[in-house]
Parts: sequence; C-alpha cells; structure tokens
Amino acid sequence: LKDEMKNEVAELKKQGVTPNLTVILVGDDPASRSYVRGKQKASDYIGIESNLIELSSETSQNELLKLITQLNNDPNVHGILVQLPLPDHINEQSVIEAISPDKDVDGFHPVNIGRMMTGQDTFFPCTPYGIIQMLKSKNIPIEGKHAVVIGRSNIVGKPVGQLLLKENATVTYCHSRTKNMEQFIATADILIVAVGIPHFIDGTHIKPGAVVIDVGVNRIEDGSLTGDVEFASAKQKASYITPVPKGVGPRTITMLMGNTIKSAKNNL
Ligand code: GUN
Repeated sequence: LKDEMKNEVAELKKQGVTPNLTVILVGDDPASRSYVRGKQKASDYIGIESNLIELSSETSQNELLKLITQLNNDPNVHGILVQLPLPDHINEQSVIEAISPDKDVDGFHPVNIGRMMTGQDTFFPCTPYGIIQMLKSKNIPIEGKHAVVIGRSNIVGKPVGQLLLKENATVTYCHSRTKNMEQFIATADILIVAVGIPHFIDGTHIKPGAVVIDVGVNRIEDGSLTGDVEFASAKQKASYITPVPKGVGPRTITMLMGNTIKSAKNNL
C-alpha cells in the first residue's frame, strides 16, 4: 500500500502538488512522541512533506486555536493533525472542531463523522479505516457477518462499527455496562476489541473460526506492549488474529498517509 502511495505522490508532484501533513504536538508525552515519529517516518517513505510543530505543555487553548486557523488558511497544508491527548486545560473537542473538515485527515470532525454516518465519501478515522482495509486485503468476508465491537470510543469503537455496517455486517456494540458480554463474544464472526485493558479477552468464549482484531496498545509493567486480547489462547480459536505490536498500528499510519494524499488531490 505504501509503495502504491509513493507512486501516487510522485504523480502529484509532477502536477505541481506536494502533499503536506502538519502535525501539532503539545507537551512531551513519550507515547505521543513515538506515534508522531512513526507518522514522520511513513511520510518520508511515501514522499509526503511533513511538518512537526512542537508546542510546550503550557500553550493556551487560544494560541492553539489561532495556529489551527493559520494552517486552515495555508494552501500548502493539506492535512492537519493535532496529536491527542492534549493537556487538561485544553478542550479537545473545541480543537477538533477548529480544524477545517477539508483538512481533517484524522476524520474526527463532527462534519466528517456525519458524512461517514450518512454514507458519503470523506476522511474516515484512520484506525477503523485501516481495519476495514485489512479485512478486505485478506479477503475476509464482512457482508452478513456478525461483527461485535467491544469499546465505544470516538476514535475507534463507534466509527469502526459504522464502517462495518456500511460493509453490510450486522453490528453489536459492547462496552463497560454490557451484561453477559460472553454471549455476544460467542456469536461474533468478527470481533474487534478496543478497550485499552491488557488481555481483557482470552480465547475462552471466542467462536471457533472467528476473526479477531486487537486494537489495544497497552504498556505493561515490564515495559513491553501488549494488546487487549490474550493472543496465545485466542489464536487457538481464531481463523485470523492480529498481534500487538505490529498488527493494526502500522495500518493506522498508512491510512493517515492515504487521507493526506486524498486531501492533496482534492486541491488539484
Ligand atoms: N492519539 C492516539 N491516536 C490518535 C490518532 O489517531 N490521532 C490523533 N490526532 N491523536 C491520536
């Protein structure tokens, strides 16, 4: 996928447009810094110009909003990404809504979420979009399947359910208040786990042959990363399962690159 994108960018450059992704990082959360590095590395590989704007954790909300307005008005910037989470004194939703929907390559703006829900083409949130793209690239059928999404975050759970619905799955959402979650897990043909709790699910209730997508990225005591799914036991039941790390994560970044290219093309 990245090589295809590299070719697309080369074509765009011939037409005089260099896709530009501008990333804003507020403060110095080590996990955020590591994600941002991954985004820059992918941009470099594909030929996308990436600007990183680093701001101190004391930056005020107004300063951040002003910067976003400048970037909204800059014709050379095609994608704006404000790395989340933000410091507590900044209202995340206000920041998300300040980004022009036409440059919102995260797909977090309510306008883009609304477009997604009404079946229009737009920037889809990168992790959910990456999951759909992964299922398709592995020729895993979605239509008519029972997809169970555990977790209801705005970034992953809610939108991945919408995209699965768009692909004609029957979708069930489970969350922290769901009663008897096992009964839903046991009937899931496609199980998406995005709760952020290490080994929240193991193989016990997974339906034999199910497809298991683990979106969790949890740092545990020994410093290593682990998923929301206990891999070894789940693998015994699953026909396909994604590991953590190196499963869904790299695809999230690739879809971000795709959204940036799409935005640049919209400007041709
Ligand atoms: N923090 C963790 N994941 C994401 C993401 O996909 N986009 C942004 N902007 N921040 C994040």
